[in-house]
Amino acid sequence: MKEKFLIQGGARLEGEVTVSGGKNAAVAILPAALLADSPSVIENVPDINDVRVIIDMLEYLGAKVTFAENVMTIDPRGVDKYDPPYELASRMRASYYFAPVLLGIFKRCEVPLPGGCDLGARPIDQTIKGMEALGARVDTKGGVLVAGAEELTGGDIFLEMPSVGATVNSMLTAVSASGSTTIHNAAKEPHIVDLANFLSSMGAWVKGAGTDVIRIRGGRHLHGANYTVVPDQIETGTLMIAAAATGGDVLITGAIPTHMEALSVKLLEMGVHVTSEDDWIHVRSNGNFRAVNVKTQVYPGFPTDLQQPLSALLTVAKGTSIVTETIFESRFRFLEELRKMGADPRVIETTAIINGVDQLVGARVHATDLRAGAALVIAALMAEGTTEISGVGYILRGYECFDEKLRRLGAHIERVTSEE
Ligand code: EPU
Repeated sequence: MKEKFLIQGGARLEGEVTVSGGKNAAVAILPAALLADSPSVIENVPDINDVRVIIDMLEYLGAKVTFAENVMTIDPRGVDKYDPPYELASRMRASYYFAPVLLGIFKRCEVPLPGGCDLGARPIDQTIKGMEALGARVDTKGGVLVAGAEELTGGDIFLEMPSVGATVNSMLTAVSASGSTTIHNAAKEPHIVDLANFLSSMGAWVKGAGTDVIRIRGGRHLHGANYTVVPDQIETGTLMIAAAATGGDVLITGAIPTHMEALSVKLLEMGVHVTSEDDWIHVRSNGNFRAVNVKTQVYPGFPTDLQQPLSALLTVAKGTSIVTETIFESRFRFLEELRKMGADPRVIETTAIINGVDQLVGARVHATDLRAGAALVIAALMAEGTTEISGVGYILRGYECFDEKLRRLGAHIERVTSEE
């Protein structure tokens, strides 16, 4: 049985909505809790499919987990395995965050290589380089990341690009390595800072997260911590775009406005009203948009994860927008689906030229990845008539109660199960 969204377009979103905890922060923090010698209590954990996979992984490895009302307790004291099975690990990208954690605990690990959204090539060479720099031997033959070390020792890690995954894995290796590690050219995304804060609250010494250079003094005794996951930057942005798309008036609470500056600036340029303070963002729009040019970049640049949702909005902007994708080459595939809804995009390698049309129309479309799915939902909210979106499993991987939150704001969205 597969789930689909049925969306009747044209409803204006109005009211208040609260952002959930960050997916990409949670999937790094939850494995890290295994490094402690006592239980952690982690709040604001989003109840999404990726988190459910992490729970299965934690339990398989021997941890005791409880999860209710977005609070997770993880007791790592029974962990006695270092080799999660393929069926579990292949279900999500972040499963390889268990590799440095298990390497730190057992001095060896065998973790099947990551699955997750198909966004084109997603190499892990920088993760391997980071682990090797701290003394591990790493092999990936047979599709399994096998790593071992007599001893992990701090050192310098030079990342060739500021990869989120490689930065997380380098940090998680470094906290178990004796001595000082410096990660150069580190990623600066909010989830990196959140992981650093969680590790610090466990007793680790981590400085510089949020800048290009992260320093860690490893080998410290780590204890369980009480921690609250940062609000989801990408969910916040998706809700902002959805509000704008419907000519809506929405107050987004529990957000961190400074994480949203790259998007806010673009929405303002398009003619959307965006105001914010403390932990809220207010988005108002009259449904008319100017075309803009966007280029995805690492944080604090415009996030690749919001490229697809914003591109959906640009399909109805007045004029021609040029969108350049510099992070993941396959993130324009969903534009073919938008074409079925009447959009007029043209893709040349890593650039999409989007000619704005007056009106999208409902169609049967398929989500090919998480953010593509969110983009299709946004397009459907703007379209005339009904849109049927399949591949909803991708969307539920990363957005908590997505359809419910939109419904409460006034969207006509229904989740149905079908045999197809
Ligand atoms: N790259 C390499 N070698 C590596 C690692 C990365 O060449 O060893 C390249 C990638 O091919 C890509 C670029 O570096 O072109 C950036 O990749 P990065 O490693 O930063 O991405 P990731 O860690 O695989 C995380 C998020 C993604 C998000 C990207 C970029 C998690 C679990 N995933 O992926 O989130 O798009 O960073 O910000 O944190 C999503 O949430 O929908 C999602 C895909």
